[in-house]
Amino acid sequence: MKKFSKLNVKLKDYSYPIFIGENLISEIKCLIPKFENYSKIIVITDEVVLKNLFQSYKKIETLSKKKFFSVILPSGEKTKSFKHLQFLCESILKERIDRDVLLICLGGGVVGDITGLTANLLLRGVDFIQIPTTLLAQVDSSVGGKTAINSKYGKNLIGSFNQPKAVIISTETLKMLEKRQIISGYAEILKYSLISDKSFFGFLQKNGKKILSLDTATTIKTIKVSCKIKSKIVGKDEKERGIREILNFGHTFGHAIESFTGFSKKIFHGEAVILGMYLALKFSNYLGLCDINLVNKFCIHLNELKIPYKLRDYKIKISSLNFLKHIKFDKKIKNNKIKFILLRDFAKPVAYVVKDENMLNNFLKKNLV
Ligand SMILES: NC(=O)c1ccc[n+]([C@@H]2O[C@H](COP(=O)([O-])OP(=O)(O)OC[C@H]3O[C@@H](n4cnc5c(N)ncnc54)[C@H](O)[C@@H]3O)[C@@H](O)[C@H]2O)c1
Repeated sequence: MKKFSKLNVKLKDYSYPIFIGENLISEIKCLIPKFENYSKIIVITDEVVLKNLFQSYKKIETLSKKKFFSVILPSGEKTKSFKHLQFLCESILKERIDRDVLLICLGGGVVGDITGLTANLLLRGVDFIQIPTTLLAQVDSSVGGKTAINSKYGKNLIGSFNQPKAVIISTETLKMLEKRQIISGYAEILKYSLISDKSFFGFLQKNGKKILSLDTATTIKTIKVSCKIKSKIVGKDEKERGIREILNFGHTFGHAIESFTGFSKKIFHGEAVILGMYLALKFSNYLGLCDINLVNKFCIHLNELKIPYKLRDYKIKISSLNFLKHIKFDKKIKNNKIKFILLRDFAKPVAYVVKDENMLNNFLKKNLV
């Protein structure tokens, strides 16, 4: 048995393990005690993951024996659609399943989100586990049970809360990931340090380069701390009725940027979150909530890692009014009021509801650079 760490996501009436280590996919039978009792093992992945992680995919096939089948989806955000949800559900139903099947998501956040939703819908609910294969999915989307597809009216608008039976994070899966995708995952790691743990920010200042180059021990430690922070928050507020909203730090501005660029490859989710955190910190300072030193620490850290954090780094030009329009598409807008998670300091997030849109517009006019 390989060495691994185990965390538990403790929810009100249910908890599940997150296993973190290297080469854990071959240990799936030990990690999931019921594995051999499932009537079918259904792997859901995408074409790019299949090509890059073919050995891992074959390993699951071998361990599942004759119970195995798979559905391969196209790669990319457009897969989170009604069309692909229907395709996925019907590809599985065609195999005449019962409720004792196990869905295994092998992929990034896109495959994870659509698999979680499918598991919730098929026969009114079947088991699923997550084997996240991007850094973003390993530190964020595989933990916490949010599942969704997109609608023409916005991102993640059709979904449910559905917790997996387990999450298996096996870091060797990251080796073929392109650099921009690693930076995208780093965004969420950096977010945890800002909203929750100043000493973790210190760790990132020392070890950021090692994480970006995927040094195994440092990456495992970083994923562990990140999952611990996210699990703790999710454990307190599974359905995002309160404290869980602090995880949206940087996301309201970030989603507006993604929405403006049409959720295209021009800017990935995590890259937009980095720009969003920069704007959220600047806005916190603009409102007198935080000292400029906090903004500077963020910028110095990203400069050292050569990670872009300004709109102009992506050649994105947008007017303040257009930006405001995109902010308002966010599903977190309630009663037409814009709410941001801002920071007073490290680990001191505050929810801020905008009362005066002119003031926000003035801020944007000066800061959309
Ligand atoms: N459910 C949640 O709580 C939550 C949280 C954050 C983000 N998300 C969602 O996650 C999605 C973004 O996730 P993502 O960044 O993982 O995107 P993704 O799933 O699209 O993966 C990014 C790209 O990397 C490829 N890829 C995946 N694993 C690979 C590997 N090991 N080697 C090489 N290539 C690989 C994919 O095919 C894809 O092209 C968004 O849809 C976002 O809304 C969900």
